[in-house]
Amino acid sequence: MNGQTSIPDRLRAWLAPYVYFSNNWISLVGVVLVTSAAVLWLFMLPAAFGQESENPYLNIITVMALPATFFAGLILVPVGQLLRLRRERRAGRYPGRLPTLDLASPHLRRLLLFLIVTTVANLMIGGQLTYRSVHYMESVQFCGTTCHTVMKPEHTSYQNSPHSRVECVQCHIGPGASWAVRSKIDGIRQVWAVLVGDYSRPIPVPVKDLRPARETCEQCHWPQKFAYNKLRIIDKFADDEANTRSRTVLLMRLGGGTSGPHAHSGIHGAHLGPGVSIRYGHADTARQQIPRILYTNSNTGRSVEYIAADANRDAVRRLPTREMDCMDCHNRPTHAFDLPERAVDRALAEGLISMSLPFVKKQAVEILKQAYASEAEASAKIPAALDMYYRTGQPAVYARNAATVKQAGETLAAIWKRNVFPEMKVTWGTYPNNIGHTDFTGCFRCHDEKNVSVADQSVKMTQDCNTCHSLLAMEEPSPKILSELGIEEALPTEAAPVSDGAK
Ligand code: HEC
Ligand code: HEC
Ligand code: HEC
Ligand code: HEC
Ligand code: HEC
Repeated sequence: MNGQTSIPDRLRAWLAPYVYFSNNWISLVGVVLVTSAAVLWLFMLPAAFGQESENPYLNIITVMALPATFFAGLILVPVGQLLRLRRERRAGRYPGRLPTLDLASPHLRRLLLFLIVTTVANLMIGGQLTYRSVHYMESVQFCGTTCHTVMKPEHTSYQNSPHSRVECVQCHIGPGASWAVRSKIDGIRQVWAVLVGDYSRPIPVPVKDLRPARETCEQCHWPQKFAYNKLRIIDKFADDEANTRSRTVLLMRLGGGTSGPHAHSGIHGAHLGPGVSIRYGHADTARQQIPRILYTNSNTGRSVEYIAADANRDAVRRLPTREMDCMDCHNRPTHAFDLPERAVDRALAEGLISMSLPFVKKQAVEILKQAYASEAEASAKIPAALDMYYRTGQPAVYARNAATVKQAGETLAAIWKRNVFPEMKVTWGTYPNNIGHTDFTGCFRCHDEKNVSVADQSVKMTQDCNTCHSLLAMEEPSPKILSELGIEEALPTEAAPVSDGAK
C-alpha cells in the first residue's frame, strides 16, 4: 500500500500549495473567466469551423474578445496565486502548515481529475482560439471592415479592382515569418491608433515600410512573363450636346522578360531588366518631385546620374533615395480612385449612363464635382440634381427618358460613393496614380527633359511620345486602326433624342 501511494503522495505534496494559494479572489475571477469563455466557445464551435460570419462585429467577439477573456483568465489564476504567496510571506506565515490533501478522499480525486481534464481542454481551446484569431486577422474582412471608417476608401476601391480576389495580406505582408511578425507588431499599434482616434485622414502615402513590391507582386506576376505589347483603347466623351465619343489607341511597349530581345527594352525591361537598378532622390515625402535619378546596369557596366538642370547639385545629392520597384509606377494597382471625367467616360462607355441624354457628360461631371457632406447627402442630392436639370431644362427629353435619367442619376451617386469619403477626407485626386502622365505627373516625374545626365548634358530622360507607347490614334472619332484590327465597336444604336436646345 505504501509503495503504491508514493506517486500520488508526491503529487499531493506538490498540489497542496497550488490549491491552497488558488483560494483568493483574483484566481477565482480567473477561473470564472476561463470557464465562461470555454462554455461560450463550445456554443460557437460549429460556426468556428465554418466560414467567418458575415457580421464583422460577431467576428470581433469570437476571434478577439473570446480569446482575450480566455487568456486573461488563464493569466489571472497564477497571478492571484503569486500575490497570495507574497502576502503570506510578508506576513511571515509561509511556509506555514498547508492543509494536507487526503488522496483517499474521493472529493480530492475528483478535483484532481477535473484539473487534469480542464488543463488538457484549455490547451486545446487555447490553441484553436489562437489559430483562428491569427487566421482571421489576415482575412480581407478583418483588414477591410473592422476599422470600418478608416479602411473604407481602400476596401471600396479594392472591391472594384482586378485584385478583389487577392487578400490584403498578399500585397501588404507577403510570404514568410519575419514580415508577418513585423506587421503584427505594427498592427497592434494601428489598432490602438484607431481605438483612440489618433490617425491621419486621409491615410498618408506612400505607406511607410511597405514590403518591397518585388517580394509581393512577383508571387503572382513574375517578370519572365512580361515580354509583350499591350493594346489600350481609351474612350472619351465630349462636353457637347451629343456627348461625342473619341477614342485613343495606344500600343503600350511593355517589353521585359529575363532574356531575349525584350529583356532590356520597353517599359518593364528598361526599369526591371536583368542587372538594372534605378535609385532616385525625392524632394517630397509623397515622392512626386524627383530631381535626381541613378541608373546602373551591372550586366553592361553602364551607369548614369541624372539631375534636374535647374537644381542645386549638392542639395539634391543629399535627398533621401529609394530603389525603384513595381509600386513606383503601380502605386494604385488595387486602390484606384477615379477622377470625375474618367469615371463618367467609363460609365458612358459601359452604357450605365445613356449617350442619348443631351449634355449628360457635361452635367454629370459638374454635379459630381459639387461638395456633399456625407454619403447620405450625396445619395439624395446627386440623382435629384440630374433629375432637376432634365425636368426643368429639357422637359421634352425628360418626358421620354425619365427612367434613363433616373438610372444615370443612380450611377452617378454610385460613382461618388466609390471615390469620395468625407469622413476620411478622401476626395477626387487625393491619391495620385503614377501610371501615365495625363491626370498626374506619373512617368514624367523622372521622364522630364529637365533631368539631364551629369556627365553629358545632352543626354536627357526621354519624353519621346513613341518610346513608351505607339500612339496609334489620338482622340479620333473612329480610328482606322481599330477597323483594320476588326475591333471597331459601333456607337450605341439608340436614336438620338431631340434636344430642347437647353444649355
Ligand atoms: C494588389 C496588391 C494590394 C492589395 C490586394 C491590397 N493593397 Fe492596399 N495598397 C497596395 C499598394 C501598392 C498601396 C500604395 C502604397 C503606396 O502608395 O505607398 C496600398 C495602400 C494601402 C493603404 C494606404 C492608403 C492608400 O490608399 O494608399 C491602405 C490603408 C491599404 N492599402 C489597405 C488595404 C486593405 C484594407 C486591403 C484589403 C481589403 C488592401 N489594402 C489590399 C497594394 C494592395
Ligand atoms: C495573389 C496574386 C497577386 C498578387 C500578390 C498581385 N497580383 Fe496583380 N493581379 C492578380 C490577378 C489575379 C490579376 C487579374 C488578372 C486579370 O484580370 O487578367 C491581377 C492584375 C494586375 C494588373 C492588371 C490590372 C488591369 O487593369 O488589367 C496589374 C497592373 C497588377 N495586377 C499589378 C500588381 C502589383 C503592382 C502587385 C503588387 C503590389 C500585384 N499585382 C500583386 C494577382 C495578383
Ligand atoms: C516604369 C514603370 C513600371 C514599373 C516599374 C512596373 N510596371 Fe508594370 N506596367 C507599367 C505600365 C505603364 C503598364 C501598362 C499599363 C496599361 O496601359 O494598362 C504595366 C502593366 C503591367 C501589368 C499588366 C499586364 C497586362 O497584361 O495587362 C502587370 C501585371 C504589371 N505591369 C506588373 C508589374 C510588376 C509585378 C512590376 C514589378 C516587378 C511592374 N509591373 C513594374 C509600368 C510599370
Ligand atoms: C524613378 C524614375 C523613373 C520613373 C518614375 C519612370 N522611369 Fe522610365 N526610366 C527611368 C530610367 C532611369 C530609365 C533609363 C534611362 C537610361 O537608359 O539612361 C528609364 C527608361 C525608360 C524607358 C526606355 C527608354 C528608352 O529610351 O529605351 C521606357 C520605355 C520607360 N522608362 C518608361 C516609363 C514609363 C511608362 C513610366 C511611367 C509608368 C516610367 N518610365 C517612369 C526612370 C524612371
Ligand atoms: C515615359 C513614358 C511615356 C512617354 C514618354 C509618353 N507617354 Fe503617353 N502614356 C504613358 C503611359 C504609361 C500612359 C498610360 C496608359 C494607361 O492609361 O494605361 C500614357 C497615356 C497617354 C495617353 C492617353 C491619355 C488618357 O487620356 O488616358 C495619351 C494621349 C498619351 N499618353 C500621349 C502622349 C504623348 C503625346 C506623348 C509625347 C509628348 C507621350 N504620351 C509620351 C507613357 C508615356
